Amino acid sequence: MREFAGKTAFVTGGASGIGLALGRAFAEIGMKVMLADIEADPLAAAVTQLQDLSPDVHGIACDVSDPASVQRAAGAAFDTFGIVHVVCNNAGVAAPGGIDDISLDNWRWVLDVNLMGVVHGIHAFLPHIRSHGEGGHFVNTASMAGMNSGLGFSPYSASKFAVVNISEGLAARLKPLGIGVTVLCPGFVRTRINESGRNRPERYGPARLPDPTSPAGIMLARIVELTQSGLDPADVAEQVVSAIRDEELYVFTHPGPRWRAELEERFGAILAAMDKAAAHRRT
Ligand SMILES: NC(=O)c1ccc[n+]([C@@H]2O[C@H](COP(=O)([O-])OP(=O)(O)OC[C@H]3O[C@@H](n4cnc5c(N)ncnc54)[C@H](O)[C@@H]3O)[C@@H](O)[C@H]2O)c1
Repeated sequence: MREFAGKTAFVTGGASGIGLALGRAFAEIGMKVMLADIEADPLAAAVTQLQDLSPDVHGIACDVSDPASVQRAAGAAFDTFGIVHVVCNNAGVAAPGGIDDISLDNWRWVLDVNLMGVVHGIHAFLPHIRSHGEGGHFVNTASMAGMNSGLGFSPYSASKFAVVNISEGLAARLKPLGIGVTVLCPGFVRTRINESGRNRPERYGPARLPDPTSPAGIMLARIVELTQSGLDPADVAEQVVSAIRDEELYVFTHPGPRWRAELEERFGAILAAMDKAAAHRRT
């Protein structure tokens, strides 16, 4: 999508962090924006903030884990704008807990928001974007945790691996239709992701934090530290706008040697296993 002015964007998780920065970046380049979020007061504040940039910024209450709620929010965007071009399936939550510390409530909550939220967004908007024929773009927020499992947050990593996979498949299917797909894989970004428990519905039970002296607790403290000193969300949003313009599938915000080494180790192990299988077939 090369032209942005006058086009429209729908952003989930738009009240905070990366979603709010995306909304701001879109408003700055002349787009009309609908921010969708589960948290009412921050959503209202975000809309007021962005309306200083453009009168065409709106907000809608939306729980991405609920398909009916996403459909209603999509309907509000269609009613307001007529046509929606860019959909950012960005809302997400993190809950600590590795595969050796299984809380089924954590699994359900994280997968319902991070994975099903993306599925619901695609389901609600794809028929519309396909039918209006003006082209469009999906931006699905994954994470570096969708590329390697180093964090040890199993539900979170599993949800983000799935978002990467869905985005790769969707990109191949939609390219011939002139609809782009980007999967956003940030490292640590300065947002409220570590306070995700603020949006945890009661049906998923209480949030349980690990004992701060346990390995999981120590890891969590380190992650909080890294997030607090992380990238400015505005930098991430700038990269996303550029990826939409250039129709790029992957956005990596942290290309440093540590992240690269983790990817090389994982892909290297996979390729080595393929080589071993090939050698086995030859014998
Ligand atoms: N901050 C990081 O370091 C980082 C790194 C990699 C990926 N991410 C991803 O970025 C995305 C945005 O998170 P963020 O870091 O800006 O955190 P954030 O907490 O600042 O923003 C997340 C937003 O999502 C909203 N939200 C939560 N549950 C929702 C639901 N069920 N329905 C609708 N909205 C809901 C929250 O109210 C909040 O406004 C997430 O998908 C997250 O996993 C963040």
